[in-house]
This record gives sequence, C-alpha cells and structure tokens, in this order.
Amino acid sequence: MKTEELKTLLEKMSLEEKVHQLMQLPGAYYQGNAEITGNMNGDQYTQEEVWEAGSVLGLYGAQALRQLQDAYMARQPHHIPLLFMLDVIHGLRTIFPIPLAQGASFHPALAERCAQAAGEEAAVSGVHVTFAPMADLVRDARWGRCMEAYGEDPYLNGEMTAAVVKGFQGEKLRDVGRIGACVKHFAAYGAPTAGREYNNVELSEHTLREYYLPAYEKGIAAGACMVMTSFNTLNGIPSTGNRWLMRDVLRREMGFDGVLISDWGAVKELIAHGYCEGSEEAARRAMEAGVDIDMASDVYGKSLLRLIREEKMSEELLDQAVYRVLTLKNKLGLFENPYKDGNGTQENIVILSEEKRKLAKEAAIESFVLLKNQDEILPLKKENKVALIGPYTDWKDMHSAWAIAGQGQDAITVSEAAALEKEFVFCSVPVEPILESYQGLSRKNGSDVQWEEALLENRKQTQEQRSAALTAAAQADTVVLLLGEHRLQSGEAASRVDIRLPERQMELFRAVRKVNQNIVTVVFGGRPLDLREISEESKALLLAWLPGTEGGNAIIEVLTGRSEPTGRLPMSLPQCVGQVPVFYSEYQTGRPAAKGEDPVFYSSRYLDCPNEPLYPFGYGLGYTSFEITVPILNRNYMSREEKILASVEIVNTGKRRGSQVLQLYIRDCVASVVRPVKELKGFQKICLNPGERKQITFEITEEMLRFHDEKGRWTSEEGEFQLWISDSCVTGRAVGFTLRG
Ligand code: BGC
Repeated sequence: MKTEELKTLLEKMSLEEKVHQLMQLPGAYYQGNAEITGNMNGDQYTQEEVWEAGSVLGLYGAQALRQLQDAYMARQPHHIPLLFMLDVIHGLRTIFPIPLAQGASFHPALAERCAQAAGEEAAVSGVHVTFAPMADLVRDARWGRCMEAYGEDPYLNGEMTAAVVKGFQGEKLRDVGRIGACVKHFAAYGAPTAGREYNNVELSEHTLREYYLPAYEKGIAAGACMVMTSFNTLNGIPSTGNRWLMRDVLRREMGFDGVLISDWGAVKELIAHGYCEGSEEAARRAMEAGVDIDMASDVYGKSLLRLIREEKMSEELLDQAVYRVLTLKNKLGLFENPYKDGNGTQENIVILSEEKRKLAKEAAIESFVLLKNQDEILPLKKENKVALIGPYTDWKDMHSAWAIAGQGQDAITVSEAAALEKEFVFCSVPVEPILESYQGLSRKNGSDVQWEEALLENRKQTQEQRSAALTAAAQADTVVLLLGEHRLQSGEAASRVDIRLPERQMELFRAVRKVNQNIVTVVFGGRPLDLREISEESKALLLAWLPGTEGGNAIIEVLTGRSEPTGRLPMSLPQCVGQVPVFYSEYQTGRPAAKGEDPVFYSSRYLDCPNEPLYPFGYGLGYTSFEITVPILNRNYMSREEKILASVEIVNTGKRRGSQVLQLYIRDCVASVVRPVKELKGFQKICLNPGERKQITFEITEEMLRFHDEKGRWTSEEGEFQLWISDSCVTGRAVGFTLRG
C-alpha cells in the first residue's frame, strides 16, 4: 500500500477502530476456528472487542493463523489484517543455544544466521514479528534472564543485538522468510536491584547512557521495527510511562520511528507501581510517553475512547500511534498478503530441516566455553573407557523456558549421541534425577504441569542407581559428569540468591571424585554459576549452557575432539554469589587492591574472597595453543581525525587447527569522568592451522575513545590511553598511545 493510501485509510477509520489497533491480546483469547476463549488478569472483553484487537501474541501454526486471519479480516470494516507476534527467542522448533551462549560465541555473524533460521521457521508458521532480541545488559548472575541476554559488556551486547536484528529482518520485512524484530526491554531491565525479577532500577544517567543504552541503540540502528518497554521503574519512573525515556531518548535521540509496545500488562502496572491512580491515567501517561501498543492489558481498550471524547487526550496522539502500527503492517506486506509466509506445506520442509539442525550444532559448539583442561584430558582418548554420569546424561530438554515450540523429543541426549560413537567406548549412567535436586523449587503453570509429576516419579529412584554410577566411575579411565542448573531455574521470574549446584549433585560429584580423579565436568545452565569446588576438583570444566536441539551431538563432538569448543565467557564467572555483580570493566577506585601481593588492609577488597572472578570475561580455552605478540602501533599518537592501526601477530603453536578470539581493550588513563580499567572495543574470531601465523589489525578511531562527560556530551579527551590485544580481559601487555588536539 502506498503512503497516501495508508493515510486515507487512517482518515476513514472510526475512533473505535483506531483504538483497537493499539490493543494486543494473548492468543488464549482465540482459537484457530475463530472461537473465543479465556480472559487475562481478570480483564474480560466482549466477543466484539476481541475480534477487533489489532494484534495477537503467542500463536503460531500456518493453518490456524490463516483461519484466524480470514475470520478476523472478514469482520474488519476496513479489512485491516491482524498482526501475529511470538516470543521466538532462540529458535521456534529447532532450538539454538540460549542467547547468553550465543554471546559466548563472540561470533555475531553466526548469531545472525541462527536468527535468520529461527525467523524462517516462525515466518512459515504464520508469525510476523518476534519479541527478540533482548538487548538488556546483564551483570548480576542472580537475575534469571541472564540466559536471554548477550552478557556483561556493552560492545559485545550491541554487536550481537544488531546481528540478530539483521538476521530476523534481512533487507526488507516483506521478503520471504523474514520477520520483524523487537528490541527489548527499554530500558535497563537487566539491572534490577538485588537481581530480583521486576525490581526497580536505580542507575545514574551516566551509567545508563554509557553502558546500558548502547546495545538498544545498535539494534535500532540495525533497523528493528519494534521496541518493547521494560517492566521496571528507572530512577523512580516506570519505563512504560516515562516520557523522557521514550520520547526524548528513544524517539528523538535514537531516531526510533517504529512501533513501541509495552511489555505484558505493563501499562496496567503503572497503577501497581503507584504511578497512576487508575486506568485512565495509565492510558494517558503511556500514550503521552509514546507507547503505541498496550500488550495484554485492558487499559487502552477501556480508556482511550473516553479520554478522547472527554478531550483529555488529543486524537492526534492516537492517530500517530495508529499510523505507526499501520505502517508496520504495511512494511510486512500484510495488506497485500495477510498471511505473509504462513504455509502449511512449507512448514514441513522448513521446520527442523537438516540444514537448521546442522546450524544448531555449529552454534552450540561455538558457544561452549572450556574453562579448564588439566593434563589435556580433553579431547578424550580413544583407548580410554569413559563413563557418562549425572542427571543430564540422558536429558532431552536442553533448552530454556523460552523455547516456544521446542520439544525434547527432537533432541538427542548426550548418552544417545555417545551410543552412536564408533571409535570411543562410553558407558552411560544417568544417575540422580534432575528434578529431585531441586526440592523447594515449585513452578506451576500450564506448561510445567509435568514438573510435579516428574518429581514424584524421580523420588522412586533408588540408591542402586547411584551405586551403579560409582561402580562405572571406578572402572572407567575418565568420568564425564553432566551436572547443572535446571532449565526452569533461569528465565523470566527465575531470580536466585543461591547460584551453586544443588547439594545432591555436589554429593554425587564428591562421591565420584573419591573413586576416580579423572573428572571432566560439563555444566548446563542459563547463568554464571558458583563452580569453585567443581573447577578445583575436576580436571576439565566445560560450560555447555542450554545448548538446544543439537546439544547432545555437539557435546559428544567436542568431548571426542572432532570439534573444538570455541566460546569465551560473555559474563565473568563469579567465585560466589557475594561477589555479584562482578564485571571486568569496573573503575579502579582510590584504593585499588594490590594484585598478587600481601593485601593492604585499607584497600578495596573483601576479607573473605578475592576481587577477581573465578574466570574472567573473554576467557576460554580450545584444543590448541596460541602465542600473541605485544601489539605494534603504526603510530603512537593521533588527532581526532586520524586513526591508529594496532596489530599483533598470532601463531598457532599447538598441534591442531583451532580458533582464538582476539579482543581489543582500551583504557583512558586520565579523564574528567573516571574511565573503567579496560573496555572491550573490538574482537575478531580467527581460525589457524598448526604453525600458521597471521597478522591481525584493529583500527583505533577517535569515536572509540568517547565517553559520556559531566555535561552529558559524548566526547573524547586528549591524553594518554592504553591498549591491549589479548585472549581475555586479564591477559596481554599494554601499549600506550596519545590523543592530541
Ligand atoms: C516478557 C517479554 C515477552 C512478553 C510476551 C513478558 O512477560 O517480559 O520479554 O516478550 O512477556 O510474551
């Protein structure tokens, strides 16, 4: 539809019709056969109202959505198509590693391919826009949604966010296989006080702008068609009613002109926050802030009409929001083809295709982080007998709570993949039921009913299974212990104050350790965990996160050495929960703790724990070794218009082909606003044959040296800088350069 036609359409629409375009209802209200069911948060809509809401969330399936679209449009006075949205977070049916794991890959192009593949499955299932990527910066391992983020670093986070937006959207939204992306949750949802879900966020404007906003901005610059508000208050004002945040920062400064949607029920929550007295005020505040769509609450639906009729809100404000929604529908091509790519026949071909499974395996392998590999126990040796032990040995659900259509049955477990091995001898004992480990965790909702059942079933497990495991461990040359955090222990509403593994798993670990010291521990989970004892007492430690459909195959491929794990930590792995939030790009303080020397009493440190995390950001091992030279600069000073080229030579000094992630860190030594001890400004993942050497160059520009100054300007200041090119945030030798006027 041409812009003029869109405008004419808007003019023809009644007030009621316009309001309806701004309502998004959960799929539970609809069924494919056009029957209406359900209510939400106690809100009841009439049949008529439900049939008029402009968008719906949570439904997929080509045939059902086609039927629904037909029924809907037939009732629409102007035949405006319904918009279908869904949480496609790390895959629709083919499940890719969780976003945090994709962050660990340090490979945005790979994340882009995963998003594209997930988008293709969603598109063919009739979905138009996904609620992803989540650009929230995360530094607190207690927060459950770390799993859905790309980690603690603003630069890595921004690169991944932009790549994922491109992966979903491609060049044009209406192209086949493309869906819209929604950057969320604006803003700073990842910094809830004490890591507790939905809690308030208190951040100085400096911290907000410097570290939290850049990733959203990169997602918007990459063309995201939608942004979602966050649940939290930001410095006392709920985001969903925050005019400054949405109008000044998001729309004016960042130039976002797409659709702004609230998070689930967040417009109504303006009342619970104590920010608005009732629905009418909540509707007005959210509209004034520029929130176009009210997701899953009845506030817009019930109040906007009255506000306009009583002249408490201008119709122009309404028109602007509606026009943005219509424009999105138009960009998706829905006026010409309301089903977009939804196609039942194609669903069978596109979904879970071999190609997608292959990509899921590749992504899993690239996301695994090898933290320790003593005596080169990995890769496993063919002549050795290996026992696979632990609750995750035969575990199918290697995905998060956000794997919308993911099904355990599609996955191959680690022991199933091991059984297909021809060259290695594995013996699997899936001892210790997963759920038994999590007494005290009750989570009941529709999708998790099996939880309780499984818990009961698992109680029947006997001591014999454990004895069998210990016998197998004693007889094996090497034990691979598969332990972890349950998938429902991370994700939305899954904050934790204890980030250790369950005691029952630790008991198993210790019992195995008594009979066999050659332990390789593989850890599953959706956040950085406290792995001190495991790390100390295992010979090798591999973080597998929640690897998705191909997790089992990927793990066996890495253990046997057919592939190498190439992930690097996207979040510092804390020593313990008391260190949290712990992240590398901190400030030095006036009394920095001396490193590796006798502690100075009055210095910035803990009495009972080192300041450093157990494993630092950017760290991870592979199966070969590298040497990286000290960086050489083509010049050691630059003006604002000039550039410096910083190069290192890297050589693969090991015996096999392998990958390394070269990371560029910079420090501004003295500035009018104190700068972090190091900041990531670039990275390159490279792969070299044994003996192969390569020169790797990073370009340093003035823009990379800017920060948010006291007056709120992005600026750089003349003076001395340090630069590292290294394989983690704690390695490498610094070289200096100067920025001159
Ligand atoms: C989450 C969002 C999600 C939305 C729709 C909310 O509870 O915070 O991230 O997209 O639900 O499912």
